[in-house]
Amino acid sequence: MGLLIQRGEDWASRVDLFAVAGLYVATDHRYMILSEDQIEEDVVMYVGMDSMGLVYTAPQYPVNRVLDLCCGSGIQSLVASRYTKEAIGVDINPRAIRFARFNAQLNGISNTHFSVGNLYETTSGYFDTILANPPFVPSPSQECRFRDGGITGEEILAQIITESTKHLAPNGRVFIVSDLVNIQQYESKLEQWWQGGAAYKLVLSTADRNDILFSVPHCHTAFNQTWQQYNIELDQWLQNFNTTGLRTVNFGYILICQVDSIRTRSYYSRTIHNPNQPIYQYVQEYFQQRQLLEEQQISDCFLVMSPDLRFRLEISPTTGEREIELFSPNNPYFTTYQISEQMYRMLQDINHSQPKWQAYATAINQDWLYELIYKGILYLTLEAPAVNRNRRLKSPPPTEGLKIEELETKTTPTCISSYLR
Ligand SMILES: C[S@@+](CC[C@H](N)C(=O)[O-])C[C@H]1O[C@@H](n2cnc3c(N)ncnc32)[C@H](O)[C@@H]1O
Repeated sequence: MGLLIQRGEDWASRVDLFAVAGLYVATDHRYMILSEDQIEEDVVMYVGMDSMGLVYTAPQYPVNRVLDLCCGSGIQSLVASRYTKEAIGVDINPRAIRFARFNAQLNGISNTHFSVGNLYETTSGYFDTILANPPFVPSPSQECRFRDGGITGEEILAQIITESTKHLAPNGRVFIVSDLVNIQQYESKLEQWWQGGAAYKLVLSTADRNDILFSVPHCHTAFNQTWQQYNIELDQWLQNFNTTGLRTVNFGYILICQVDSIRTRSYYSRTIHNPNQPIYQYVQEYFQQRQLLEEQQISDCFLVMSPDLRFRLEISPTTGEREIELFSPNNPYFTTYQISEQMYRMLQDINHSQPKWQAYATAINQDWLYELIYKGILYLTLEAPAVNRNRRLKSPPPTEGLKIEELETKTTPTCISSYLR
């Protein structure tokens, strides 16, 4: 098959092979630098932190049909083949489709189908889930087809969201990984792009990058670059950033669940650590909690604090002043939160008494409780807590002085040079 070639006395591989969630995914080399690497077609993307991020973040509901737009090596479809009856992958690059088909065979997967196409143009029927890792980088160039998403990065992203509702089955979902340009405007952007009815929209972000933090890594080429070439490149990227009205670029995820029209549409944005392990159960839980909050049975639910969280207290020995943080050592779904003394007390109160919603929620504290549930810090459960500790319910503490501040996590460069080790 030409996968292995002889180089002098050695054997070399023509492809990179990644181990992904128990599967093998073959794709082109990240750096096509040797003469034997030269090809006439567009190269197929390596498995990047965006590829893995979507694998870890997109909820894996059992469904009938999944559409994987911009499928590249086929990684998203191959993972989805485990929870869907059929996954359809589409890519504009014929070489990507050949790799995707090869990867399905390599892993003995028979419920995926791959075809060459421009987004939805060649698809038919309806899908329960649409997955997409599109070219999303705001770029002055069009050279790298798997990376460049037009000058704002939103050329393909907007199209995917806008047209999704024509292809979604009832209560269908769209899960996308992307650079999030000017994230403060995301609520109105999604309002404009989404043409469907009621939906729960969730945006997971990491950290804002300014023009320099964003542009510099994109301008380094891995090998053989002179300073002059680097400077010319950097000028182009900075100019694009500043003339296109980009103020910040954040890396993250857009997750949209269509819901019945009787439900209340919602938008929520929160910070995570870009996941290096699955967080999709927590994302799924967010959507389930949203639904539960709109139902009658909420009154009978118990309010519980996530067991993954820890408090960190710092006390000044001189002034006695305390700073309190809430964080999770092992769960990337949570960032670090700075909380006020009153918030600390309220969370402890809830954690100790694990009260029923109807006994704890009041017109005054309810919005705070919602906020903590949207952040995954608290959750509602119909199951009585297993350890019924110290169940001495006092009246809820006052809400005055409650404060919680979400801290940004590490910036997540999505450029090719960030993968150099
Ligand atoms: C960022 S890569 C994602 C690859 C893979 N899904 C992953 O997660 O690693 C983007 C892919 O989109 C494809 N693409 C670009 N424009 C497209 C279009 N208009 N329609 C379909 N695919 C497109 C590129 O060929 C590339 O394979």
